[in-house]
Amino acid sequence: MRTKDAVLADINAELPDLDWAEGARRYLEVFFQRYSREQIEMFAATKPLAAITPEDPAGSLAEIVSYLNHFSNTIHLLRLPRGARILDVACGPGWVSHWLTRLGYRTVGVDISPEFVALARKRLAADPCLDIPAADLEAMFETVDLERQALPERLAGSFDAAILESCLHHFVDPIAALENIRRGLAPEGVVLIIESDNRQGPIRDDYMRVMLDTQTLERPYSRAQLLEILAHAGFPAVEFFGPINGFFPESAQAGADLNAALARITSDANICLCATSEAALLRLVPSRAVGPSEPASPDPRLALATRLRAATPAWVRPLLRPLGRWWLARR
Ligand SMILES: C[S@@+](CC[C@H](N)C(=O)[O-])C[C@H]1O[C@@H](n2cnc3c(N)ncnc32)[C@H](O)[C@@H]1O
Repeated sequence: MRTKDAVLADINAELPDLDWAEGARRYLEVFFQRYSREQIEMFAATKPLAAITPEDPAGSLAEIVSYLNHFSNTIHLLRLPRGARILDVACGPGWVSHWLTRLGYRTVGVDISPEFVALARKRLAADPCLDIPAADLEAMFETVDLERQALPERLAGSFDAAILESCLHHFVDPIAALENIRRGLAPEGVVLIIESDNRQGPIRDDYMRVMLDTQTLERPYSRAQLLEILAHAGFPAVEFFGPINGFFPESAQAGADLNAALARITSDANICLCATSEAALLRLVPSRAVGPSEPASPDPRLALATRLRAATPAWVRPLLRPLGRWWLARR
């Protein structure tokens, strides 16, 4: 494996020489001027369930759907009990913390931007279903530069999970940030990283334009780079995931739709669950225990049912379905 310095030099090789931490701190201030404080606050209070934008309806709908999918996939994958402690890393306007709190989890959100932290507190304070005392809200969100500052001492070793929704690519030194996050984890704690891009070559022009415009980092990692980053940060156990979400029609088209979805997911995302030990990961991903895959021997009755179904005209299938279920349920 390459040294930590070599990895950092590689991931940052193409970056313009800007003060990224200062850019992240000033991000909201710039946007308050560019749009209006009211508009930005509305966005922060409602993300990701903001209205579809008229300027880019398809793009904004895709973004909303992807955030919703990420969230439901996250809670389904982690399967944490009520009251579990979750670190919302680089929480921005705090929507992940907000929804997790609604579910009964105990969350702490940290972000480099004091403006974002203030908006996150405001968002949760405004929820009439939560009724969180002001002192608790203070403690639920902290301004922390995760690359340069340790998490507050009271949080060390406390989290069952840390969630990094669309933020790892914002760190110049993701290794330092992840080491810091690791110190916040309980012994069996896990880290879920959601990065919607898996870098395939040089940084794309559209990312470069955004970086120069906003002075915030939009630099995705390749999967190989991400694995090196995680190894240096003390996360040797890593499992990548491909999200497949959607309602697939029970018709001849279903196969084609599913194939299209699979092609989309395998190309782009870098979504992974990481832990400091195999045992912690195995708890949530038991299939890691299975060695080189042996195809499961098919149930002969199921195989026959599938063949019969394929040979039956579509209009007859609903009539035969109860009979099929009864037959398959027999032991
Ligand atoms: C794209 S936003 C994602 C925010 C949030 N996770 C969400 O889904 O809305 C990236 C966030 O990273 C934060 N950030 C950037 N550098 C950071 C650092 N060094 N320490 C903590 N937060 C940082 C930014 O302030 C910003 O809120």
